[in-house]
Amino acid sequence: MEIITHSTDSLFSTRLSSSLGDHLTIAEAQADDLPEIALLNDEIFQEERIINSFDRDDLLMLVALYDDEPIGFKIGYRENRFVFYSAKGGVKEQFRRQGVGKAMLYAMVDRVQQMGYKRLAYDTFPNMHPAMTIMGLREGYSVVRADFNHAYHDFRIRFEKKL
Ligand SMILES: CC(C)(COP(=O)(O)OP(=O)(O)OC[C@H]1O[C@@H](n2cnc3c(N)ncnc32)[C@H](O)[C@@H]1OP(=O)(O)O)[C@@H](O)C(=O)NCCC(=O)NCCS
Repeated sequence: MEIITHSTDSLFSTRLSSSLGDHLTIAEAQADDLPEIALLNDEIFQEERIINSFDRDDLLMLVALYDDEPIGFKIGYRENRFVFYSAKGGVKEQFRRQGVGKAMLYAMVDRVQQMGYKRLAYDTFPNMHPAMTIMGLREGYSVVRADFNHAYHDFRIRFEKKL
């Protein structure tokens, strides 16, 4: 895994500001790291499917590490030349509310801005996963679409933010 940001890096020092301090690193994962992501996905979402397809343009897979232990992941890819889509992500329960989700979001935003994308988008299910809705609203994301998803028995809300 390529380390892209560490909580002591000057560029990110204020923005990461996780209570995990020096222990937290955000790394860019490669195909070799998929087994670790699969374990995280299974623990966080209790499902085998990670995302429908990894055959995506500009696939970006981030892993959050507590020292060397993977504690979270975030995966996204190109939706169109302007919009980068964050498809799935989560943090192990015992590491939540310590800034890890936000650190991964910021790392993704930095990466995709460098790649030239203008907006970040994601879908979420507010009853099933309320934290991602709260975090989106607090981070300045707007609701741009909502519908009811019969498979998940929940509303699906799409958030977007101009980068
Ligand atoms: C969503 C998720 C990734 C957030 O990760 P996290 O590391 O706990 O998030 P952070 O600690 O960075 O939280 C950042 C901010 O989001 C908001 N937030 C996050 N979780 C929240 C919760 N459970 N309740 C209220 N606000 C919450 C808060 O504003 C928080 O800042 P604060 O702690 O300073 O108040 C995590 O809760 C998770 O994995 N949930 C299950 C899976 C999931 O929902 N994935 C997203 C599906 S679209």
